[in-house]
Amino acid sequence: MLPFMNIINNISFVIIAAFGGYFAIKGVISIGVISAFIVYAKQFGRPIDEMAQIYGQIQTAIAGAERVFAVMDEPLEDKSGSENMEQSEGTIIFDHVNFSYEPGKQVLYDFCLEVKNGHKIALVGSTGSGKTTVVNLLMRFYDVDSGSILIDGTNIKNIACDALRRNTAIVLQDTVLFTDTVENNLRYSKENATQEEIEEAMKRSNCYHMVRHLSKGLQTVLSGAGQNLSQGQRQLLSIARAFLAKQGIYYQLYMTQFAGNAT
Ligand SMILES: Nc1ncnc2c1ncn2[C@@H]1O[C@H](COP(=O)(O)OP(=O)(O)OP(=O)(O)O)[C@@H](O)[C@H]1O
Ligand SMILES: [Mg+2]
Repeated sequence: MLPFMNIINNISFVIIAAFGGYFAIKGVISIGVISAFIVYAKQFGRPIDEMAQIYGQIQTAIAGAERVFAVMDEPLEDKSGSENMEQSEGTIIFDHVNFSYEPGKQVLYDFCLEVKNGHKIALVGSTGSGKTTVVNLLMRFYDVDSGSILIDGTNIKNIACDALRRNTAIVLQDTVLFTDTVENNLRYSKENATQEEIEEAMKRSNCYHMVRHLSKGLQTVLSGAGQNLSQGQRQLLSIARAFLAKQGIYYQLYMTQFAGNAT
């Protein structure tokens, strides 16, 4: 709108100058009348310019509001579960699970899996085959279409979402790091962690030496959300963060997905 209004203003200036000049030469009006007329024309145009500016702002606001309402319109999470996983051992069973993100495009077909307490398992498959989907279902980011997922024999639909997520740590392909020190990035999962807990978490996730070799160790500032680290180093920090979140809790499950194809 603004460039358009500028063109209109300039055209009106040319018209006033041309006609004003013609009439001034003919002696119909004086030069003073022309200059006064130009000032009036500018005053007339200013509110229209301002309206053009406001129109731009309104468009931006509408675009923002659409996104806000899209979030507000999301259906609420099912909070019906009440079990709190206190005595959990961590045996996971996927029992004949079928799942699709969109109707008609099924991702998991009759998927069965049993993970015993303490086992480390790897799901290997081509990209887009549904490995991350398995993790999403376990965390109840989505609900299964049919079949069930059991933790220690309890259907996860009966476990309170809060408890389920508090007792489970996941590390996904994309890491989320902040422009802050390494230490504060780790503390994100446990704000009041002691120095020993942080070191322990770094040792368990094999990033202790990596961090020590950074220029200022734990106090190194990660620029641009970890741009100064390699992808693998960023993942190690995410894993350390997961370890830190769970210290002292006897039920631990780490789902790690590396940039490759293993979950
Ligand atoms: N949020 C979503 N909405 C709709 N479809 C999705 C969504 N997320 C994944 N999909 C589809 O589900 C299928 C499985 O995706 P998933 O992310 O589980 O794959 P993956 O095995 O983890 O792949 P990768 O090895 O690349 O990480 C893909 O074909 C994808 O197109
Ligand atoms: Mg994936």
